[in-house]
Formats: sequence, C-alpha cells, structure tokens
Amino acid sequence: MPLIGPREMFKKAYEGHYAIGAFNVNDMEIVQGITWAAAEEKSPVILQVSAGARKYAGQIYIMKLVAAALEEDPSLPVVVHLDHGPSFEMCKDCIDGGFTSVMIDGSHLPFEENIALTKKVVDYAHPRGVWVEAELGKLAGVEEHVQNADHVYTDPEEAKVFVERTGCDSLAVAIGTSHGAYKFKGDAKLDFPRLEKIEAMLRKGYPLVLHGASSVPQKFVEMCNEFGGKVGGAKGVPEEMLRKAATMGVCKINVDTDIRLAMTAKIRQFFVEHPDQFDPRSYLGPAREAVKEMVAHKIRDVMGSSGKA
Ligand code: G3H
Ligand code: 13P
Ligand code: ZN
Repeated sequence: MPLIGPREMFKKAYEGHYAIGAFNVNDMEIVQGITWAAAEEKSPVILQVSAGARKYAGQIYIMKLVAAALEEDPSLPVVVHLDHGPSFEMCKDCIDGGFTSVMIDGSHLPFEENIALTKKVVDYAHPRGVWVEAELGKLAGVEEHVQNADHVYTDPEEAKVFVERTGCDSLAVAIGTSHGAYKFKGDAKLDFPRLEKIEAMLRKGYPLVLHGASSVPQKFVEMCNEFGGKVGGAKGVPEEMLRKAATMGVCKINVDTDIRLAMTAKIRQFFVEHPDQFDPRSYLGPAREAVKEMVAHKIRDVMGSSGKA
C-alpha cells in the first residue's frame, strides 16, 4: 500500500470508537520501532514529523526511511504528517515533498489570523489531495515555536466557526493535555464535558485530535532515574482517559515523549550495565526494541486499533 491520507482511517476510527496513534519520528530506530509494532498489531499508523525532526534528519532522509518501511511491509496503511507546522511555507514544502497530511499550528495567533493562515494552507493542500489538521486553543507547556504559560481551552462555539470558515479536515483541541513529561502537578484531569460540547458542535464524524497525550510510564521514569537520570515528578495522561477520549470523536492521539523516555531509559541502563562497550548498535538496538514494545502496547491497549489495518 502506498502512503495514504487519513480520511478512511479516521472514518473507521470514528465509527469504531478507537483512535489512530500518531508517533513522532526522528531517526531510523524510531521509524522501525513504530512500523514493526504497527505491522505486528496489523494497525494503521501515523508517522509524524516535527520541524525539529526535519531539521535533525532532513526531509529526504525521513521520507526515504518511511519508503523503506513501506517496502518492507506493503500492507501497512501509513500516513506521513507534518506535526505543528509553523508556517504556510513549511506546510507547502511538505505537501510538495509527498506528505499526505499536514498540521498548520496557528494556535498562538489571534482567532482571525489563525483562520486566515489555516485557510491559506487548506487552499493549497486540498487541490493536491492533502489533509489539513489545525489547532484552536493553547496547550500548556512548550510547543516547539510557542511557549504557553497557561492552557486556553478550546471554545466549542469558536471551534464550529473555525472549522466552517477554514475548511480544515481535523481539529486539535485543548482540554487539559500538554506537551512533555510534566503534564499535571496534582491529579490528572481532562475537561471531558468540553470535549463532548466540541464534538456536538461539529458535523457528525468530524475527527478531533489530542496532542500532548503521552502517559509518561512510571516504569521508564524510574529506569531513567535508577540509571543516573534526573526525571523528577514526571506525570502523563492516564491511559483510561485516552481510551475514553477515543470514544468521543478523538481519532488521532499524539505520542512523542513516551518514545523519548523509553529510548533514554534503555540506553541509560545499557551504559551503566556495560560501561566497557561502545558499539552504537549495542544500545540503539535495545532502544529500538523498547520503542516497538511501547508502541505495540499503545496500539493494543490505548488506541484500540489492533487488527484495523
Ligand atoms: O509536540 C511536539 C513534538 O513532541 C515534537 O517535538 O519539536 O522536539 O521535535 P520536537
Ligand atoms: P507528548 O509530549 O505528550 O508526547 O505529545 C506529543 C505531541 O503532541 C506531538 O505533537
Ligand atoms: Zn503536539
């Protein structure tokens, strides 16, 4: 199967009350870990590429890695998506470079400016068959080009107007999640009544997106700390909350931090247990395996997308 857009994936996910995992890719080990897990679980998957990933690996390398994964398993339905596109120009570059989906992130802009920027991307993407995700509301924490001190939750009325006026295909909403490993000071809390209202305001079947949805598994936090790290007080979104969101119109759930934690924990462990070794394959191999196991668990037990490929 060639790269596909998310339309069919999201339609089935919406109707089946499950979500598609969108995992950030930066290098070969991550691409392999994710796609091997998706193949084993027979699950559709979204590989997403941030501006930082494009800068680190280069768009050509990322696209060739994805092409290699598809050649290895042609039955795997894969979307390649630009994560947090900061400008029209970057979205255009990705569309021209073969991405099947882009996110334009105008969430830091005033409402009218966010609409104008999103619409400009939609007008370029749609005639070329590319899907557009947009964002309304602000997540707390750090997005790569935006520092948000506070959440500004998505307003359901505004969401309706925004989607109608921009024609964006899916909408990332702010309901209490945030990027990174430190999401909640006290108890984890998401604004489900708000999510319900947003879904009710949009046309039936409209796909919503949850950013900042890593669960920050304590197993990896503890491993990082046991082997010399300092990852104190890290807390993520409980898995049962993600499963609930997946039954409420959330068709795409974004995960990056958990991949970083899993790889780092394994590499730290390896360095402490094998101080005499320095072959990168000896620690990148276990790190890749940890990504695969973690993604397989997400697909099976959180997204609910096993067997849906
Ligand atoms: O939400 C942002 C993603 O976690 C990407 O992070 O900009 O460090 O690649 P990055
Ligand atoms: P996490 O930081 O929770 O993994 O969120 C990733 C994300 O939203 C990427 O866009
Ligand atoms: Zn995000």
